[in-house]
Amino acid sequence: VLRSVVTGVGGYLPSEVVTNDDLAKVVETSDEWIQERTGIRQRHRASPDQAVSDLAVEAARQALERAGRTAADVDLIIVATTTGDLTFPATATIVQRKLGAPVGIAFDVQAVCSGFVYALSTADGFVARGRSKCALVIGAETMTRLMDWTDRGTCVLFGDGAGAVVLEPQAGQGTIDDRGLLGFALRADGTKQDLLYVDGGVSTNGQIGHLRMQGNQVFRHAVVNISEAVIAAAADAGVEVSSVDWFIPHQANSRILEGVARRLGIDEAKVISTVAEHANTSAASIPLAMAKGVEDGRIKPGQLLLLEAMGGGLTWGACVLRL
Ligand code: ACO
Repeated sequence: VLRSVVTGVGGYLPSEVVTNDDLAKVVETSDEWIQERTGIRQRHRASPDQAVSDLAVEAARQALERAGRTAADVDLIIVATTTGDLTFPATATIVQRKLGAPVGIAFDVQAVCSGFVYALSTADGFVARGRSKCALVIGAETMTRLMDWTDRGTCVLFGDGAGAVVLEPQAGQGTIDDRGLLGFALRADGTKQDLLYVDGGVSTNGQIGHLRMQGNQVFRHAVVNISEAVIAAAADAGVEVSSVDWFIPHQANSRILEGVARRLGIDEAKVISTVAEHANTSAASIPLAMAKGVEDGRIKPGQLLLLEAMGGGLTWGACVLRL
């Protein structure tokens, strides 16, 4: 069987760091409140002249270099984003142009914070069927551009950044020892829209809008939903959750990360957490956390990784892969 194997991982964070104390000058909040409720200490913010494609290109270049590939090899680009450069074209085609990648397939996936898990499973449909030899799957966001800076319940939670992986086909034995994407579970429930959405859009009011969230309601759904999807993805892969080497969750809130790990019996030492430094970077958070774990030497080739996310829609999902 053909497997979609992650051969390179990259990340990019804009240079400006915004601390909790910085935000306390903008809204009625405190470093203590934010850290206690979310685990967040700081977030990165893109400069006004940086579009989300610029962040994506930086992450993609690093992932390609680590995979030993160049832009000339890339035949598929999927960008998971909810903060694209323009209404159209897709940010993926802008990334293709900026990278100088040849004519191929390029499109965006919109599943908000679950976008990377959705995009990875979409790419698998091309790579594991031999239709792409070198795919870039990118999660990139400028969430700070969607904030209502008078709403302390949301504006302290998000940050900007991008992460990317290179996927290439490799023959496997069809067992759980194969490298590559081994299992998925994707979910959506549109009836929960009001819990987390942006109140603007092309075909409604013609505005960009601001992110609106019932934080405690989202929290209530997160742990239960994510846990179910993780169990389903592990079953799809044919592995036990307990056999996973690294748990790499979407980085929304340290209490959600801990809640899911506790519910699934995952040792906290196996959780890769970047929420303190990056805050919630939506679709970028999982590949950014992967990049960090690879860079600091914790995540090694051959290890079994479990990714999970939940976001607006509501959408959620999980994915099991062997690096
Ligand atoms: N600073 C100080 N006080 C605040 C702040 C702030 N930044 N934000 C809210 N508060 C206040 C509220 O106004 C409220 O005050 P009141 O009691 O006087 O009305 C009080 O804190 C409690 O508000 P809650 O919303 O009930 O606080 P909660 O403990 O639920 O924490 C939080 C809020 C951090 C948003 C939490 O609900 C959460 O993290 N939810 C998950 C949301 C999330 O992570 N979404 C990301 C996208 S979805 C995903 O990725 C999973």
